[in-house]
Amino acid sequence: MKRVAGAPAAQAAGAGSALSDPSFSQAVIRWQKQHGRHTLPWQNTTDAYRIWLSEIMLQQTQVSAVIPYYLRFLERFPDVASLAAAPSEEVMAHWSGLGYYSRARNLHRCAQRVVSEFGGVFPADPAQLADLPGIGRSTAAAIAAFAYGARAAILDGNVKRVFARVFGIEGFPGAKPVEDRMWQRAVALLPAQDIESYTQGLMDLGATLCTRSSPSCNQCPLVERCVAYESGRVHLLPERRPKKAVPEKSTAMLVITHDGHVLLEQRPDSGIWGGLMSLPEIAEDSDDAFSAAAPFGEPESSEKLTPFSHTFTHFKLHVSPYRIRLSRRKDAARQSSHVWYPGERLADAPLPAPVKKLLLAVFREPDLLANR
Ligand code: ADE
Repeated sequence: MKRVAGAPAAQAAGAGSALSDPSFSQAVIRWQKQHGRHTLPWQNTTDAYRIWLSEIMLQQTQVSAVIPYYLRFLERFPDVASLAAAPSEEVMAHWSGLGYYSRARNLHRCAQRVVSEFGGVFPADPAQLADLPGIGRSTAAAIAAFAYGARAAILDGNVKRVFARVFGIEGFPGAKPVEDRMWQRAVALLPAQDIESYTQGLMDLGATLCTRSSPSCNQCPLVERCVAYESGRVHLLPERRPKKAVPEKSTAMLVITHDGHVLLEQRPDSGIWGGLMSLPEIAEDSDDAFSAAAPFGEPESSEKLTPFSHTFTHFKLHVSPYRIRLSRRKDAARQSSHVWYPGERLADAPLPAPVKKLLLAVFREPDLLANR
């Protein structure tokens, strides 16, 4: 059983604790019913599969970016059984571009466990949900509340911002002691009824009014009780993560082409872009892209393409791409992690977004399709 951080302390602070205040949830619920969001594609359903999928996609991604992926994903995988049975490459391909790919791998594993351990029905107990891959305590609570009406507390980044401001909570909310205090609040403030409107209301407030840089305090139903507003600290709370220098890394990517095909390499399951396909790489300071392509055929020409950078959570990656044309290619089947991929199918390939962008630009060049 996965341990849920902060749960014991939080459970101690239920209704009746010094932190409880029914007027807080009432204000949130009333506002949500009148001014909140009611027509998002994952609302107006109690289908736990659809709700789970949306909550996973929304974990690190904005609503507007999620919507087209969510709709496409559901068209291809309409229920948990179809997702569990799908090949992982196809799941990754439907996630390609959304980022944070461990979410997709966990999603697939979670679907398989729901089928094998729960007969294809997501459990209603937040603790059982939080034991499944990719589902943390807050996501488990959101699924249980929206699908089953369970009285469980959420605490995502948006809710942390609302709590930090309304209650004047200092310190970085990602720090364990600060987060523990927020969980206690979250549990103590749960309403006796209307958990769906309350949960959605907290999300909606954080996403639409109580935004990080341009909050609309004049429209906020909590302004009269907001400690940050009263003390002129709305822009100072929540406190930011203490600064650490972002490490930078560099790599060279090889765009090895022959006869309208490009050589792709399967990335290992762990690490950046885990489970996706990408381009073969060599050390950035190696100036020998030409000879690095030799194991795959007969290199004819090498050309430096425009470098680009991609920022991950923990570091920034500088990429120097090289295009190497082959006059003859070797069969890549010998190395099972490599595959010659047809240029015209790249749009649907399970590639990281910046690599796909690079390849689509390369393959749009007319001379490339015409010869190699
Ligand atoms: N972010 C996380 N969950 C959400 C939801 N259900 N609706 C809108 N935004 C969200």
